[in-house]
Amino acid sequence: MSTLAVLGCMWGDEAKAKIVDFLGDNADVVVRFQGGSNAGHTICVDDKKYVFHSVPSGILYPGTKCVIGAGVVIEPFDLMAEIAELEAHNISFTGRLYIDERAGVVLPLHKDLDAGSEISSGAHKIGTTKRGIGPAYSDMVARVGIRLGDLQYPEWLRSRLQNIYSYHKIERSDADIENETSRLHEIWKQMQGYICQVDNLLRKWYLDDQYILFEGAQGTLLDVSYGTYPFVTSSHTMAGGISTGCGVPMRYVDKIIGVYKAYCTRVGDGPFPTELNDAIGDKIRVQGNEFGSTTGRPRRCGWFDAVAAQYTARLNGIDAAAVTLLDVLSGLEEIKICTGYWHNGVKLREIPTNPLIMGEVVPEYLSMKGWDKDITEIRSINKLPRAAQDYLEAIQDMLEIPIEIVSVGKNRNQTIVIK
Ligand code: IMO
Ligand code: MG
Repeated sequence: MSTLAVLGCMWGDEAKAKIVDFLGDNADVVVRFQGGSNAGHTICVDDKKYVFHSVPSGILYPGTKCVIGAGVVIEPFDLMAEIAELEAHNISFTGRLYIDERAGVVLPLHKDLDAGSEISSGAHKIGTTKRGIGPAYSDMVARVGIRLGDLQYPEWLRSRLQNIYSYHKIERSDADIENETSRLHEIWKQMQGYICQVDNLLRKWYLDDQYILFEGAQGTLLDVSYGTYPFVTSSHTMAGGISTGCGVPMRYVDKIIGVYKAYCTRVGDGPFPTELNDAIGDKIRVQGNEFGSTTGRPRRCGWFDAVAAQYTARLNGIDAAAVTLLDVLSGLEEIKICTGYWHNGVKLREIPTNPLIMGEVVPEYLSMKGWDKDITEIRSINKLPRAAQDYLEAIQDMLEIPIEIVSVGKNRNQTIVIK
């Protein structure tokens, strides 16, 4: 076994980074293959908290190489600021960071478009992270985008900038274009030591039998094709995104771990059948500190949705599951799992693809007994309260996939390994 993918299987914020960090201590390489700084990946080690937006979570292990693939969109100034902040904490990037020159560039234009568009605030509001992610990906697909490698050549870059502004019908003076060209070229000079073609490196490392860990961002229900469209992000968050996102064949991925929270959360708009707009939802939000690590927004909280979870397990072909934040449910008398969707008196056989229908479904619940005990110091599955074990078993049976890891706290060591 030389490669492993860790993917969020719901609406993001499943504590993927904690699992990547937990499994990554002997990883040779950690790879981000999609998304951008909309991700907020939090890792807690020895009471120190790190939040990564674009840098792969493996950077905390000094011997691990970190890779950002072509499927990622990068705001170069923000990325360099993130790197500088980590360097101030004595984390070295020298010879450890590899960024694909084909990655798309997020420009100030994209942030402005994201902040001011219908998508972020109008009637069709998605509630984006306003990091310019959607507009940057749109421009890449429209073939007017600027790629990291373009920043090397000022003359070419200038013409690409003229092109993108004219595409968006935005007036920019020659002086403005000149200014932006030189700013981008200057930041490229600072980044050039990191920029390369990562597919070649990954292939070589794979053939050298190095342990490669693919770190997903967001979650499958935010996938641009298979998520709860249009309330999704603009990249392929599911397993297939690995191949297109960093240029390796899918058969290089030996094992896929799907990360599920012990309950559900969603930040931003869109249907959420098991949402709890009550005191239990508030309690979960407070206990789980469910506030966005990128935007600070309160996250919407709800019961575990096994219908959606089964859907994403199948889409990704996951081999094993990690269940996170189980400790947050301690103290609830009753815990529910959504086992089916009803719509107009009919039980649905599949998750609805239309957001209107998805917004109208009535969940069918299995009610389970809660537990009272604090479980954050427990390190073996058999020592968990019986009710917690039953809860995990129910989830495992519904997913039809073994749970291999259970997280009972935010720190690296607050983890139970089943296999
Ligand atoms: P991590 O990697 C949770 C959500 C936004 C919004 C939608 C589109 O930390 O799990 P975007 O800015 O991507 O165009 O916003 O997607 N979203 C996330 N939700 N976790 C994330 O990342 C997210 N990244 C984007 O809230 O609903
Ligand atoms: Mg997050």
